[in-house]
Amino acid sequence: MKNRDVAALTEKYVAKTYTRAPIALVKGRGTRVWDADGKEYLDFLAGIAVNSLGHCNPAIVKAIKQQASQLLHISNLYQVLPQAELARELCRHSFADRAFFCNSGAEANEAAFKLARRYGQEKLGGKYEILSTHNSFHGRTLATLTATGQEKVRAGYDPLPAGFRLVPYNDLSATEAAIDPQKTAAIVVEPIQAEGGVVVANEIYLLGLRELCDQRGILLIFDEVQTGMGRTGKLFGYEHFGVKPDIMTLAKALGGGLPLGAMLAREDVAQSFMPGSHASTFGGNPVSCAAGLAVMNALVKGGVLKNCVQMGKYFVKGLEALKKRFSFIREIRGKGLLIGVELTVEGSKIAEACMRDGLLLNCTATKVLRFAPPLTITKREIDRGLAILENVLARQ
Ligand SMILES: Cc1ncc(COP(=O)(O)O)c(C=O)c1O
Repeated sequence: MKNRDVAALTEKYVAKTYTRAPIALVKGRGTRVWDADGKEYLDFLAGIAVNSLGHCNPAIVKAIKQQASQLLHISNLYQVLPQAELARELCRHSFADRAFFCNSGAEANEAAFKLARRYGQEKLGGKYEILSTHNSFHGRTLATLTATGQEKVRAGYDPLPAGFRLVPYNDLSATEAAIDPQKTAAIVVEPIQAEGGVVVANEIYLLGLRELCDQRGILLIFDEVQTGMGRTGKLFGYEHFGVKPDIMTLAKALGGGLPLGAMLAREDVAQSFMPGSHASTFGGNPVSCAAGLAVMNALVKGGVLKNCVQMGKYFVKGLEALKKRFSFIREIRGKGLLIGVELTVEGSKIAEACMRDGLLLNCTATKVLRFAPPLTITKREIDRGLAILENVLARQ
């Protein structure tokens, strides 16, 4: 089948929830992918911040093959070895004491919201409200889209669940003023708003949120679905800011390309979940967790994170040079290899032109080109990507 055949099948049979490019990607190695017509691309998006060790990383493929030949699925009625091991590794390397596993970022946030509500009922005299931020993105389930601060995600789904309220991002005094002493149980925030256009939190803001939550006895939840698992150059985004959350959610890169999400919490918070409080048939599936262990092992060895920091700096330097040349580049922001280039013009046509020229990236928040390449990317690949981008920008 060629690109066109796959697109025709999709057009006829798949729900129309996505605006898809007309290429069918069928093979990947490292930072490179190939479409069904045999064309090669540099992938600077990595499945939207998922394939952090590159496509078909040998250690991940080996772990998946080994586990798949042993046991594919067994359910959470029994002990699941790779799940227990992954939980141990995540807790060992974070603030957390326990992990609940699920299959996606939205589910991880659902779990966080449910835990916050139970905690609110048990320990905060019935408080239930969750404050989230304008411009945020937390997922597409009813609860998580309600917490999402983007009208286009919420539109058409009224009535939305009660108990969520939006406050401005990076605005500590507005958040403080919004806390309802009778109702507010938790604040959820992304250390970097990724879908919202790669907007980085101020350190003072996150430190202030921590203080505020401590003073009021309420929970601080970090949605690290996109910033977690090394994307920003540290294992978890919160490590940049000297602030530890009470609950953290992960997904995307956690499963190395397989569907896997997790909600991590400190023991005293995690206690509000007990048998029957929450569940997921596939959550913590042995194969996904075996892949997750391979990802964790690679990240904690250190070389990948170091490469992420170095290549992130190198890439930003190259982008800064483009900014000097093209006046329609407004700002370059991000951390590690989560980088946004804000334009003064719409970015989707530029992303499309890059794709035609063999470079995959995407446009978010209308005017922001987003880059989230594999953390294993090389200087040569960055140079090639920058050259393609420069050519495209020169044609604007
Ligand atoms: C910060 C953040 N939270 C939650 C989600 C939702 O994750 P998923 O699409 O796996 O449900 C995303 C997805 O982009 C995200 O970036």
